[in-house]
Amino acid sequence: MSFDRTLKIAPSILAADFANFGAECAAIEAQGADWVHVDVMDGHFVPNITFGPQMCAAIRPHIKGVMDVHLMIAPVDPYIEAFASAGADILSAHLEAGPHIHRTLQAIRGAGCKAGLAINPGTPVEALEYLLDMVDLICVMTVNPGFGGQKFIHSQIAKVQKLRAMIGDRPVHIEIDGGVTPETAPLVVAAGADVLVAGSAVFKGGSVANPAPYGVNIRAIRVACGA
Ligand code: DX5
Ligand code: ZN
Repeated sequence: MSFDRTLKIAPSILAADFANFGAECAAIEAQGADWVHVDVMDGHFVPNITFGPQMCAAIRPHIKGVMDVHLMIAPVDPYIEAFASAGADILSAHLEAGPHIHRTLQAIRGAGCKAGLAINPGTPVEALEYLLDMVDLICVMTVNPGFGGQKFIHSQIAKVQKLRAMIGDRPVHIEIDGGVTPETAPLVVAAGADVLVAGSAVFKGGSVANPAPYGVNIRAIRVACGA
């Protein structure tokens, strides 16, 4: 994975057909997705449960490009090896998931993955100051994690601006997760984001049998951002 700040759309399979993950991953890539975003939830850190490392391993052969795994679990450390073995390219942990995020990020890189750090809407960017040199991606949550289809929280735009300035020349992606649509996407891209996760806005209107709407939806987000 080489680093660049060009716009990347990462559809979240949280909005896909859960009985058809492999085919859904192939369909969104064929329709122009840059990365595939995989939301892991434990019913403890967030109030919803999705799937674990075995599901990630099962879908890995159906993804040609980047598998971007967002861990909404606590604790994180006991499961890093399992998600790395499942083939995650990027493994993101939440700053709020435990008292030792510094150690968690070291362990993620140690397991051979790119290290992502996700922050909830209530977490200030100042909390990231001593972590910036150990991450490849910062995921700014623009909804409270746990569910797809929620409303974008506009106060996070100023946070993205601050974060972009803090990152400076470091090769660190800013990813936005939650409520991304053709209306909200340009706001966060202008603030400095380069990876946009989108669940409902990508999958709406389409299916594995009728994947063309996925492409239309992905292009609508790109066009809205001037890409
Ligand atoms: C929320 C997840 C998101 C979510 C985005 O906890 O991390 O990735 O699926 O869904 P939309 O785009 O529908 O807000
Ligand atoms: Zn996510």
